[in-house]
Amino acid sequence: MKQAAAIVLAAGEGTRMRSDVPKVAHEILGVPLVRWVVDAAKAAGASRIVTVIGHGAEAVAALVPDTEIAVQDVQHGTGHAVKCAEAALSGFDGPVLVLAGDVPLLRAETLQRLVEMRSETGAACVVLTARFQDPTGYGRIVRDIDDGVAAIVEHKDLAPEQLATDECNAGVYCFDAKALFSALERVTPANAQGEYYLTDTVAILRADGLDVEALTLSDADESHGINTRVQLAAAGKLMQRRINEAHMLAGVTMTDPDLAWISPGVEIGRDVVIEPMTVLAGTTVIAVGAHIGPSSRVLDSEIGAGAVVEQSIVRGARIGEGANVGPNAFIRPGTVLGPGAKVGSFVEVKNSTIGELSKVPHLSYVGDATVGSGVNIGAGSITCNFDGVSKHPTVIGDGAFIGSDTMLVAPVVIGEGAMTAAGSAITKDVPAGSLGIERSEQRTVQGWADRRRAGRRE
Ligand code: UD1
Ligand code: CA
Repeated sequence: MKQAAAIVLAAGEGTRMRSDVPKVAHEILGVPLVRWVVDAAKAAGASRIVTVIGHGAEAVAALVPDTEIAVQDVQHGTGHAVKCAEAALSGFDGPVLVLAGDVPLLRAETLQRLVEMRSETGAACVVLTARFQDPTGYGRIVRDIDDGVAAIVEHKDLAPEQLATDECNAGVYCFDAKALFSALERVTPANAQGEYYLTDTVAILRADGLDVEALTLSDADESHGINTRVQLAAAGKLMQRRINEAHMLAGVTMTDPDLAWISPGVEIGRDVVIEPMTVLAGTTVIAVGAHIGPSSRVLDSEIGAGAVVEQSIVRGARIGEGANVGPNAFIRPGTVLGPGAKVGSFVEVKNSTIGELSKVPHLSYVGDATVGSGVNIGAGSITCNFDGVSKHPTVIGDGAFIGSDTMLVAPVVIGEGAMTAAGSAITKDVPAGSLGIERSEQRTVQGWADRRRAGRRE
């Protein structure tokens, strides 16, 4: 296949989104629309990608740092937008894919087929088409008497007798570079919207005696365009299904795939079980046999084989093999849980290592700590890692026992096998094998409770 370039149109405001965020920056499964399109172009093997930006330029450019940027200052239409990319592609005379930043579901294989079809037919342009149940808003393909593609007419410019045409322009094309830019020179804004339509190039190329072909999608969903938030949600649903079906076919169990939201880069091993209301995003990798959910969110984390994450949030962390997290745990970036470790209910862990088989079962905060193996941290214990100015480390040796409600005032070191007494505020290091206790002595007043109750009844 001759190396194709790609132009991604992403300069429009997306008025119909009614948003302060540029349309192509809206997300599906945590990935901005324009990113889906650029990634598909890359996967299809595009040798260079030019993104045309304009509305919200800075925000959009930041989403596609791996592409060349062309700026369309004022949005005069899709034809004008493509023209803005001409300078970036000067001297390029291969096939050019033109993609819309708001058509995110396209598969790389479809783009490859467009490029192949153009080189096989020698057409000046191959346009991707689809039949939609409701073609409202889409440009329609007008065929000549020989069934060739004669023109594309925008919805707003349709004559009444053309309204029934359901073959729609998906807004995705493969052009011969020279033919494209030559035709664009002759596009005028004489239409309902007063814009320079890219779609007008089709009739111009035909008038030049060149061939235009159509590649019709069997799965119209792929070319689902996004103009409104209703369409954004519908496209999200389609993508969720596509991703989840691939995981299920690869051996992942999903109790209810409608209630699992998995971003495209996430890797999941065999026999993993994903329970409802679970979100897996970023660079997350889940190893074989892990059990995630219900109601869990895992971002940029590694979950070890057979580990359990129940009703919890895990971000930027590594959870060891067979470890147990939750319910209601909050695991923050920099956390490493060793094999078989347990972080239980209402426990927050940040930037800490918790060793093999160590347990933090209930109501604790562990921050900036290095906890050895076989340690037990009693309920309500916390590391006081912040003194109001800076953060300090806590070190707990192997086999130590931290009594319930211990305040470990960092920096502090608890030696191997040491213990702290419940309720102690530990401000000094406790050597290995020793006990740290910090409490005032208890006073017991005999019969006090009985006397008090008796007093109330009178
Ligand atoms: C376009 C097509 C229509 C097709 C539909 C498919 C035209 C004239 N119409 O209509 O035939 O059925 O897509 O989804 O091409 N953009 C710019 N600069 C501009 C205008 C648009 O960069 O000046 C970008 C937008 O950001 C968007 C894409 O081009 O990503 C498509 O623009 P949009 O206004 O959504 O076109 P549609 O009305 O959907
Ligand atoms: Ca659109």
